[in-house]
Amino acid sequence: MLILGIESSCDETGVALVQARAASLPVLRAQALHSQVDMHKAYGGVVPELASRDHIRRVLPLTETVLAQAGARLSEVDVVAYTRGPGLAGALLVGAGVACALGAALGKPVLGVHHLEGHLLSPFLSADAPQFPFIALLVSGGHTQLMQVEGVGRYVLLGETIDDAAGEAFDKSAKLMGLDYPGGAALSRLAEQGDPRAFKLPRPLLHSGDLDFSFAGLKTAVLTQAKKLDDTLEARKADLAASTQAAIVEVLVKKSLAALKSSGLKRIVVAGGVGANKSLRAELNAACAARGVRVHYPELDFCTDNGAMIAMAAALRLQADAQAATRIYAFDVKPRWPLADLTLRA
Ligand code: KG4
Ligand code: ZN
Repeated sequence: MLILGIESSCDETGVALVQARAASLPVLRAQALHSQVDMHKAYGGVVPELASRDHIRRVLPLTETVLAQAGARLSEVDVVAYTRGPGLAGALLVGAGVACALGAALGKPVLGVHHLEGHLLSPFLSADAPQFPFIALLVSGGHTQLMQVEGVGRYVLLGETIDDAAGEAFDKSAKLMGLDYPGGAALSRLAEQGDPRAFKLPRPLLHSGDLDFSFAGLKTAVLTQAKKLDDTLEARKADLAASTQAAIVEVLVKKSLAALKSSGLKRIVVAGGVGANKSLRAELNAACAARGVRVHYPELDFCTDNGAMIAMAAALRLQADAQAATRIYAFDVKPRWPLADLTLRA
């Protein structure tokens, strides 16, 4: 079964083809991506209307690229999958509209995928795929969640952010330091030259006893520190970046360890854009190695938004539930969509 996946929830247009066989792990045949980051940079963040228009421009050429790379014809596609939510409504509508139009034209079923389920299942794109059950730390620009993953469609939310997401904390702090949007990766590069102990920044909810996160206070503390530094900010920027990163990483690692301990599980998967952060990887690897816990990361290309994770999530859903896709082509999107709503039919 050949599954075409389309991702358009935010500022990346991703298209991919995944091949699924009955009893083995689905395989990625080809993928293509266009990031809009350069376009949104001038505005310091994603401009939804520009995002939607760019998705329209990119989605069909990317689909053609992917088919050519895989040496496949459109008529060979068995299911068209797309990100149904959560995300920007207009951006989601582009992917959903194109996917359902393709499905209708080909007479093939379509399947709306939850963006976070795509991130959660993205490690299955790696050669070193995890086995269920595992803890998932989902850290993106919009979400910070700890989840217990029992199987496809069986997700238990253990904790989440009560305000900003971890990626947002990186991006907002980076903006305060004059770095371009999205500043996560740039802040992380700058941090390599700084001292993580230079500034005492808060570790919100570190000792709250639950698995929730809060990053809004950290951003305020970074702002206060930046103002205090005033003229000397430029000279101390690397130290401030390193201290900010250390605060975010410490909270993420400690809460992940707490989730592993309370669940008794010995496997954790890190997904979402912040999963690309080198310091997070180093700290989590060290802590998990000391506790006999296996850590899985998707490859860097699959950490940030992409079409492959959507095609893969659709393939795994279809393996678990052959009726998951539909030939009803009227569609809607879900800009807000709790992951808890995803339960497999019995
Ligand atoms: O998963 P993703 O591509 O999009 C969402 O679904 O939100 O994640 C994007 C987020 C951004 O906030 C970006 O700054 C952050 O991931 N990010 C990083 C790094 N690379 C990307 N944050 C910290 N360190 C990085 N190396
Ligand atoms: Zn994402």
